[in-house]
Amino acid sequence: MMELNGKKILLCVTGGIAVFKAAALTSQLYKKGADVKVMMTPAAQQFVTPLTFQTMSRNHVYVDTFDEKDPKNIAHIELADWADLVVIAPATANIIAKLAHGLADDMISTTLTATTAPIFIAPAMNSHMYEHRAVKQNMQTLASFGYRFIEPGEGLLACGYVGKGRLAEPEEIVRSLEQYFLKTNEQPLQGKNVLVTAGPTVEVIDPVRYLTNRSTGKMGFAIAEVASDLGAKVTLIAGPTALDTPFNVKRIDVTSAEDMYEAVINEFEQTDLVVKSAAVADYRPKEVFSHKVKKKEGDLTIVMERTKDILAELGKRKQHQFLIGFAAESTNVEQFALQKLKKKNLDLIVANNVKEAGSGFATDTNAVTLLDRNGNRKEWPLLTKHEVAHRLLLEALAMMKDDKKQ
Ligand code: CTP
Repeated sequence: MMELNGKKILLCVTGGIAVFKAAALTSQLYKKGADVKVMMTPAAQQFVTPLTFQTMSRNHVYVDTFDEKDPKNIAHIELADWADLVVIAPATANIIAKLAHGLADDMISTTLTATTAPIFIAPAMNSHMYEHRAVKQNMQTLASFGYRFIEPGEGLLACGYVGKGRLAEPEEIVRSLEQYFLKTNEQPLQGKNVLVTAGPTVEVIDPVRYLTNRSTGKMGFAIAEVASDLGAKVTLIAGPTALDTPFNVKRIDVTSAEDMYEAVINEFEQTDLVVKSAAVADYRPKEVFSHKVKKKEGDLTIVMERTKDILAELGKRKQHQFLIGFAAESTNVEQFALQKLKKKNLDLIVANNVKEAGSGFATDTNAVTLLDRNGNRKEWPLLTKHEVAHRLLLEALAMMKDDKKQ
């Protein structure tokens, strides 16, 4: 995305171990074409030196209110006016408290009170601090002033605690800022409810064993992320995956094909566009053993029964909804995909040959062919999954617009 190209971003870095991530953030913003100026508190400089930020941003780093380089300008006011957007990362409990109360006793707090640019706050602190009532109240106050928060993640914190408080990853912060700059007219999916399924399903055999497949969820998560960037309200129903929830996306975690069926049916009515990229199990063990199956002499036979075909069911129920299916095949790719398109009453199917290099499971790329209900065929070159997602959603939107005209 090019949303950050040429944008003036003021990054305020306050003290905490996560300062090192702010250095990575500076580098990513720079690579996206943003003009980044960094301001640091003395505490932040205890973790990473200004020189690192100067090198990453290719700009002078501001550390002291009274270190005025240019007699004609007052640096903190000039910066406050210069910025298109301000981001505080990491934001300590201290800067959050100061901002909430209008305190301005150092370079960052004075600049933040002087700016009229939108301010994004990415907190990072110990999980107990994050849950503290005073901190929570201060964040609520700031939210009521229109400040935006980029929530911290959960996990092992540097202080040894496990909980919420870890600075959001630089990629996520970048994405939040990109999303902000996306203009309304570049959000063609605004007003649309998009439902995406992703990942594998897991079918239990006994308390220790299960059957699953090699889907990682990457394609579906990319679709959910891009759909949200394009303005849609996105619900992502995900089988077990290791992926993080995309920004602004409602995620429902499921395990089995049956769970996914129920979750999808529940959402279907209020959905405009369904993208079924999940690799749903076609069979599950007929019997789920409540105790671990013990080994015996000879072979073991597990009788499998069919799961419900979710997409076929949606095809039957479909009214205004636009349905996109996926067909991962290793032979006769297009022929099989076309059969699925017809049988399941889809509008569009994405066919890919899982045996082709760079396609299919666990890769970041995909080479696909699109087949639609009107007999059109589009073969795309090897693209990133995000690029496939983008093209696919625009394709679907164009067809939906045509449908409306008829
Ligand atoms: N699908 C589904 N519910 C199932 C199985 C598949 O919704 N129980 C969806 C997938 O999400 C995908 C499409 O149907 O969009 C794939 O079609 P399917 O015929 O099930 O593919 P395979 O299982 O790979 O096909 P087959 O074994 O028939 O080749």
